[in-house]
Amino acid sequence: ASSTEVDISSIKPGQAIKGVFRKQPVFIRNLTPKEIAEANAVPVDSLRDPQSLAERTKEGKENWLITMGVCTHLGCVPLGAGEGESKGEFGGYFCPCHGSSYDTAARIRKGPAPKNLEVPEYAFTSDTVVKIG
Ligand code: FES
Repeated sequence: ASSTEVDISSIKPGQAIKGVFRKQPVFIRNLTPKEIAEANAVPVDSLRDPQSLAERTKEGKENWLITMGVCTHLGCVPLGAGEGESKGEFGGYFCPCHGSSYDTAARIRKGPAPKNLEVPEYAFTSDTVVKIG
């Protein structure tokens, strides 16, 4: 099958896991209220790739940020989804290849990457399972 089902029940606020979707890494992150507030405090018009957190998540589940783990510069896997990894200066993800920093909505904030981390097609099939693709 081309879709992937992930059990999200054990991902605590502030944690992220790495999955695999179409042979590429995918990040599934449970945002804390502080991380949500940080994302919502940024004027969307000021962003390189203007998108609100609400546009990048599902209504009522704004804490679940699901993105590809593929830097939009040249395709490295950013850090920040693993235990102890640097989340970079904007608190989301950091790509060590050429220094792109993404914020808590995985939007590009600094460095050479042109776009936010891509949000794949996904749907919640229950409160604890998300189907990607
Ligand atoms: Fe991520 Fe270049 S591949 S900054």
